[in-house]
Amino acid sequence: MTLTISHCGAIILLLFICVFSVTATTAPPPIKFSTGFSNGNCEAHPHAGVELSAGGFFMVGDSVCYDDPASPPRVQFAVKAGADGSLEWKVPLGDSGYNYGKNCLELQDGSLLVVGAATVGSTELRSMHRLDAKSGATLSHTTFPTPEGYEGGLDGLMGADLVFGEDLSVWVTGYVRGEGSEEGEEAMFLIGGGSMVAMKLKFPVVDGDSVSDPAVLFERVFDESSDGFTTPQGMRVLDTQTGSVIVVSTATPEDDGLYQMSAISFSSSEPSKTLWRNIYPANDANAPASQTNGTMSHPYAMSTSGKDGGCVIAGHAYPESTPNKVEPLPVGRMLRLDANGKAVWDARFRQDPDDHNVECYGVSLTLDGGFIATCGFGCMPETCARPSSEENKVWRVLTHRVDGDGNELWENLYTDTSKGNNAGENIISLREGGYAIFIDSTSWGDEGTGGNFGLMVLESDTQ
Ligand SMILES: *[C@@H]1O[C@H](CO)[C@@H](O)[C@H](O)[C@H]1NC(C)=O
Repeated sequence: MTLTISHCGAIILLLFICVFSVTATTAPPPIKFSTGFSNGNCEAHPHAGVELSAGGFFMVGDSVCYDDPASPPRVQFAVKAGADGSLEWKVPLGDSGYNYGKNCLELQDGSLLVVGAATVGSTELRSMHRLDAKSGATLSHTTFPTPEGYEGGLDGLMGADLVFGEDLSVWVTGYVRGEGSEEGEEAMFLIGGGSMVAMKLKFPVVDGDSVSDPAVLFERVFDESSDGFTTPQGMRVLDTQTGSVIVVSTATPEDDGLYQMSAISFSSSEPSKTLWRNIYPANDANAPASQTNGTMSHPYAMSTSGKDGGCVIAGHAYPESTPNKVEPLPVGRMLRLDANGKAVWDARFRQDPDDHNVECYGVSLTLDGGFIATCGFGCMPETCARPSSEENKVWRVLTHRVDGDGNELWENLYTDTSKGNNAGENIISLREGGYAIFIDSTSWGDEGTGGNFGLMVLESDTQ
């Protein structure tokens, strides 16, 4: 009898060990290291970063030199760092006007792409730099002319992904004929006005010093207005590696002029063939554009969900207005789509305290099949419910970790309020476990710049 019980106990213990050895911990992992990179005494902030095939990191964003009249009003800024966070090189890009570094990739030959917008003459165009990985020298800088019929606005690229199974080929997305918020200065996220665009580019093999521009193998402006909404701005593009490509966009419902998450999928072998196109209102991801009921949401980031043809979109969502609060503040939103664009789950997080904005700019698949998002977390002076507390006004890096079903495993604020403002701009799962968070940071990098490229590497939270 006693023997049986102890056997049972051993088996239960073994089951426990088995279960816990394949799941994530529910405690936030510790910080391995954090560091920062500055563009001289200029403000700089990253928008994206990748882990390089040989180890180390490549980060891009943009930078403003307020005190340097010789500098263009805004330049792209790219940084390469070793796996331990040591600086290898950093390079500003842009000769005149406004230049935005929005995304980056490493090609199969090791060259590095900076994806964004560049001013040429008096127009802002979609821009692609290809950099030498050893030195940061520009191998080619390509701007793409505005497609016929879409002239008269701002063009730019926001998202990029490698074409699965084809060397030196990339998908990109962005916008054409976008509307800036003010003359000469562009909103970080163009809401309204433009049209989503996607391209497939093929880069030439580097041979000697002169490197020609990538060839445009496919280009399409998604300007249709159907199902009650339009798509003004492609934000991210993903090759699902299962024969389809997904582009997420801000959607503008025709009825209310607000904005929502949307996604479109097309065939990777036949890109002009749309597979599906959907809007995902914040009140109900399955509702049509006519029933957003005063809510809003915006997609900033997208991750693969593995090889199942789906994805996870991250961003923010505004709840419906309530009588006592005319303008509610955004909370975190993660939306899981299957291969057919159907919502599998639709998670909200950090709804309290309600005087803080949550805006999630990065999301990544984790090694155990879950997801991790990073966000900016803080309150705007005009909406702070508790303005007496200085702490409320400081922006922090919020990181939110869920399992494959969207259930929270842990959540953490990785920066403290005594160290200035920080916002999580992008997050990636590292090959050997752990995460890298790319941060718009005043805590790391030089002081007094107004912002730097912050890099925080977390230990693994899976066993
Ligand atoms: C929108 O609001 C109406 C009126 O309250 C309600 O009947 C409807 O179910 C709502 N639709 C959605 C999708 O939330």
